[in-house]
Amino acid sequence: MSRVLRSAFKLGSHHATYLLHQQEARIIKSISCYCDYSYKGGQEGGDGESRRDFRTVLTLVGLGGFVAAYVLASKVAAEGKPSKENVNYQKWHTEARTDLPTYKQEVIQKHDTLEKRIWVTYGIGVYDITDFVPKHPGSDKIMLGAGSAIDPFWAIYQQHNNKEILTLLESFRIGNLDKADAVSTEDMGSPWANEPKRHPLLKPASERPFNAEPPISLLAENFLTPNEFFYVRNHLPVPVIDAESYELDVEVEESGISKSFSLDEIKKLPKCTVTAAVMCGGNRRSEMTEVKPVKGLSWSAGAVGNAKWSGAKLRDILLAIGVESDEKRHVIFEGCDLDPTSHPYGASIPLSKAMDERGDVILAYEMNGETINRDHGFPLRVIVPGTVGARNVKWLSRVVVSDSESSSHWQQNDYKGFSPSTDWDTVDFTKSPAIQAMPVTSAICCPSEGDKVQTKDGCIAVKGYAWSGGGRRIVRVDLTADGGESWHVAELEQDDLPDGRHYGWTLWSANLPVPAGQKKIEIWSKAVDSAYNTQPESFKYTWNLRGVLSNAYHRVKVEIE
Ligand code: MTE
Repeated sequence: MSRVLRSAFKLGSHHATYLLHQQEARIIKSISCYCDYSYKGGQEGGDGESRRDFRTVLTLVGLGGFVAAYVLASKVAAEGKPSKENVNYQKWHTEARTDLPTYKQEVIQKHDTLEKRIWVTYGIGVYDITDFVPKHPGSDKIMLGAGSAIDPFWAIYQQHNNKEILTLLESFRIGNLDKADAVSTEDMGSPWANEPKRHPLLKPASERPFNAEPPISLLAENFLTPNEFFYVRNHLPVPVIDAESYELDVEVEESGISKSFSLDEIKKLPKCTVTAAVMCGGNRRSEMTEVKPVKGLSWSAGAVGNAKWSGAKLRDILLAIGVESDEKRHVIFEGCDLDPTSHPYGASIPLSKAMDERGDVILAYEMNGETINRDHGFPLRVIVPGTVGARNVKWLSRVVVSDSESSSHWQQNDYKGFSPSTDWDTVDFTKSPAIQAMPVTSAICCPSEGDKVQTKDGCIAVKGYAWSGGGRRIVRVDLTADGGESWHVAELEQDDLPDGRHYGWTLWSANLPVPAGQKKIEIWSKAVDSAYNTQPESFKYTWNLRGVLSNAYHRVKVEIE
């Protein structure tokens, strides 16, 4: 049985279950065809990729390419192609067009080359995309989906449900699929049906997949972020996992060693607790966007939280199966959350980090003393302290020691930094290393932008957080209320842990003197870590097209009462 089917049975993921129910060859073919698409549709923000990639999958298999789709839709509209009024566009693919012929799936699937013309289906719509393909160099991967249904992809990446993309698709309509052959989203069951309940205070940046941060005014209230207020960053639907039958596969490439661990077996290993902040690579992206738009979810400064994580040391597990540290190797993590092509969310870290006693990498089953909840990775996630959130893989299904990094989209084509001059035409993701340790950052949590604040003895109360990746301790947080003319050092609240192993965040507070007589001020914060790294003054010269590593001074404007 293929690994996909095996993991579907094993994990009980709702989406995987759908795959099992759809065993007709054409669906499996369709699913296996779209692997490249999958890596793009579920990316950070689910809304962007290089323009080359936009062209690749644009409109038909997923894309997330709102902008490109819009441009194309306008082009098509200009050519007078759309065959319907812009009414009820969400239903076009569900309704038979009486002006067009009906086709059986077996006919459609023969149209899988340029010579034979390329057809795809969505609902009961049949679309000939042949003329679209050559117009867009790099769209060869569209060919992989030729002759099959795109419904499974669009059921997950619901951002396609917009007028521009559906209008463009309808412009390619050539017929109706025989109803007996149609795959409807109802048939599939919604992959979102089993999402957990969330605290209403979490402000969603996107609902499906669920991505949300707490109001940042709450963040500095607790050294350990309450679980229900901890930001959530999901790329796919949350998998449904039965803890009883759950197993983690640990494998070593080359040697062929592999071992499966039940949750109970993992819990029997020595339990280790580490306080670590987890921060999304896109935290504070909304500020970078103000310089120039970037692609990605518009996180404010709340895509970070600090928690006490408990579980087994990954090092213990690797040692138990005979793995030795090696500077050149990697540890790949895969989640149980599968995209429509059955590819799991995945990421990797250097093996040396996993094997380092001071690296404190754990397979966590508890968060702040409670069973880790579904949004944060139940029943098991890896915590890679000091490392960008993306590598802290949730719903862990597989750990592989390998000579290569993870091949997943999120390791290879996302969560990387670039020069401010690199744009979507010139970007080459192979040229930048995957982000691991995060740079030093800080944020002002109180007061908030626009607040009216009172002074006491000429000062205002200010508090916030600071953190640096790689276990570097925060040694100072500087604040100014007069544009940098004078700086004031904040009081720090942090764990008493050695530098290099200081993975939790630092909360800071200060009574900040404000310039006399001034009614409007701007507060700036900058943190300094143990390597004397500090934050850049502005986002202008660290701007990057994905809006990651957004760590310039934090600035908040307030009014003095
Ligand atoms: N692991 C899986 N399996 N699937 C995901 O979508 N998102 C990653 C990481 N681990 C993700 C994942 C990203 S980008 C971040 S920032 C963190 O989880 C967020 O962790 P949290 O949701 O517990 O805050």
